[in-house]
Amino acid sequence: MAQTFKAVKITDRIYWVGAIDWKIRDFHGYSTPNGSTYNAFLVMGEKIALMDAVKAPFKSELLARIASVIDPEKIDIVVSNHSEPDHTGCLKHLIRKIKPERVLASKMGKKALFAHYGIEVEEAGESLDLGGLTLKFIETRMIHWPDSMMTYIPEERALISQDAFGMHLATGERFADQLEPSLLRRESDKYYANIVLPYSAIVKRALGALSGLDIDLICPDHGPIWRGKDSVGEILGWYSDYVEQRPTMKAVVAYDTMWGSTEAMARAIAEGLIEGGATVRMINLHSSPRSEVAAELLDAGALIVGSPTLNNGIFPTVADAMTYIEGLKPQNLVGAAFSSFGWSGESAGILDEWLKKMRVELVAEALKVNYVPTAEHLAQCRELGLKVAGKMSEKIQPKGK
Ligand code: FEO
Repeated sequence: MAQTFKAVKITDRIYWVGAIDWKIRDFHGYSTPNGSTYNAFLVMGEKIALMDAVKAPFKSELLARIASVIDPEKIDIVVSNHSEPDHTGCLKHLIRKIKPERVLASKMGKKALFAHYGIEVEEAGESLDLGGLTLKFIETRMIHWPDSMMTYIPEERALISQDAFGMHLATGERFADQLEPSLLRRESDKYYANIVLPYSAIVKRALGALSGLDIDLICPDHGPIWRGKDSVGEILGWYSDYVEQRPTMKAVVAYDTMWGSTEAMARAIAEGLIEGGATVRMINLHSSPRSEVAAELLDAGALIVGSPTLNNGIFPTVADAMTYIEGLKPQNLVGAAFSSFGWSGESAGILDEWLKKMRVELVAEALKVNYVPTAEHLAQCRELGLKVAGKMSEKIQPKGK
């Protein structure tokens, strides 16, 4: 019978055997309009290892792709580089089916796999000789979970990097060099901003450790594979930029509005920002996902947030986005808050306090307007935008440069 799902040969001894999730549109709160992949790799030494697995609903796809190369029961070793369920959801079923000699994970992975699934695994240790190929395990705690590790295969100069260097992008192409560079950059930025950003200091140290390895191939657990020195250099270079979180003259204005007044303020603030030389990204939180704000903040220099007051608090969409962004710990931002209100007007103060808690440097107290902004109010909004842009220029182009 013809095979529907086939493996893709990466090198003579490494095959991609993962799954393509064309329809996922939300990955724990991160909007994924282009779907994703859950990558798994067969490494064919004298012993055969399966590196990572897939989300539970895709187990048949994984097994079918493996079967296009070998009988899945010939797999000797399963390695779990990361225990999040998008890579381990089918692990229990898989182990029952293929009966590997050994299942390996990091120390924390061992704990996590037992806690999630009741699976007993061995600690991977430093390395494993497959016969002709070596698996060298590199602990990378918190990229993305405490259990995360990477596996380097020196004979193939290949790094299986689990979440790092990945992106949520479902495509028929398996290699980054087969895809549009602008699409790759956009999706990589978005993925880093929404998944990896809070761990930037750890990523920076990991990049230092990886710089000592000869790498021709980076095989992440999501999205395309980076092959060849140019391609590998490109993604490593992007990560070197990301970890610095260098601000640019981009200002993100994120807001929602009840009857149009807060939006009118946002538009006037944007005019001031533009006048002051900033590039503006206006994000209406009613119609745009929270993950768009996170993605735009990756290289932004300012965050300006607006919300009407609703029942003595801030608007639910704004609270949602702020909760999400706070968790991602963006750095090096200046900012301000603004609000229109009918009666009590608490939202301005709440936003000010929230931005301070996020260590956003406020250029002024929150701007509050009762009911509908007048021409004078809008002029004040424009002034606020100019002031934010001025502070951005000061920080981004220090005096004397
Ligand atoms: Fe792709 Fe952190 O899981």
